[in-house]
Amino acid sequence: MASFNLFLLPGDGIGPEIMVEVKSILSWFQARGVATFETEAGLVGGSAYDAHGKAISEEDMKLAQAADAVLFGAVGGPKWDSVPYDVRPEAGLLRLRKDLGLFANLRPAICYPALADASSLKREVVEGLDILIVRELTGGVYFGEPKEIVTLENGEKRAVDTQLYTTHEIERIARVAFDLARTRGKKVASAEKRNVMKSGVLWNQVVTKIGKEEYSDVALEHVLADNCAMQLVRWPKQYDVIVCDNLFGDILSDVAAMLTGSLGMLPSASLGAPDAATGKRKSLYEPVHGSAPDIAGKGIANPIAMIGSFAMALRYSLGLGEAADMLDKAIANVLASGVRTKDIAAAGQNAVGTKDMGAAIVKELEALA
Ligand code: NAI
Ligand code: MG
Repeated sequence: MASFNLFLLPGDGIGPEIMVEVKSILSWFQARGVATFETEAGLVGGSAYDAHGKAISEEDMKLAQAADAVLFGAVGGPKWDSVPYDVRPEAGLLRLRKDLGLFANLRPAICYPALADASSLKREVVEGLDILIVRELTGGVYFGEPKEIVTLENGEKRAVDTQLYTTHEIERIARVAFDLARTRGKKVASAEKRNVMKSGVLWNQVVTKIGKEEYSDVALEHVLADNCAMQLVRWPKQYDVIVCDNLFGDILSDVAAMLTGSLGMLPSASLGAPDAATGKRKSLYEPVHGSAPDIAGKGIANPIAMIGSFAMALRYSLGLGEAADMLDKAIANVLASGVRTKDIAAAGQNAVGTKDMGAAIVKELEALA
């Protein structure tokens, strides 16, 4: 039986509450003989700061580096609003992204038929939606230098951010998108603004070249990023995989997320470069939402975003695609049967707590097995 080493970083707020439900799911898979999961847990964010004054310790960074996958809950909360900038809770996540080289951020937007009425768009526009946004995460305008505010001679100020991409950075994110498209609908839409940005011209050229030379079996379409935002709201089902830079990906993935209803439903994956010797990628899986301090400790958080993130880990880091499919199916069936946490319950509908939702998913796994 294959054995994997998972590093759990529950973090703050509802993070620990939803991580507990992932633990019961991985225990279930282990009991079924799917794989052995060696788990180790660490501290990140405000809870790490409280324990040792840093958003993540060097020891925990080492464990993250060594793991087959990192499962991350959420960090932050009002308790830590005034801690020094470089040890604030978010610094733990940024450090992980940087040191693990997590350049590819995968954000699926899936609209379960049972929840289609929770979307702000019409049912027929979103029902059955299943798209994947692949966002470049470590380059572009959030990181490019110069990045500064300078005072001019006339006393005015000038702010500069630099949108910067190299061929290598575009090639590797394009390959991630094309590889994923091969396992799905064999379609990639590449979003940029080549009409007004040099980085968009290069993006377009490099993605075109990779597509032509290495992925002629995948259909490639280019779309201007602003048009892509419109199309996502008009008819999102036209897309399969969308690949884009850091800034456009930030915006487009949030647009796509809201097509599907609640924040409590959205998983994500962040992947690094494949290791030259083993082909394994460093990876971190986390819900899109934050630590939800307003509901922390109440036992009502929706664990599906976290559990769905674990399903992505099974699929993309552990090579357990069948187990991932099964877990996704269990989630869909539980939703179809009407079980709802508060965030996805319709007005007047009974809501269950975090534990009940986790237990319902385990029970459904049992039924599917
Ligand atoms: P948030 O995502 O924590 O919460 C926004 C709203 O959605 C809240 O009303 C919350 O109760 C609800 N919500 C979120 N996840 C839910 C779930 N699983 N089930 C049910 N309801 C859920 O964002 P907010 O309030 O802006 O930030 C709270 C804290 O989280 C801040 O300290 C922020 O910095 C941090 N944060 C951390 C992130 C991370 O760890 N990656 C990402 C975003 C925010
Ligand atoms: Mg965002």
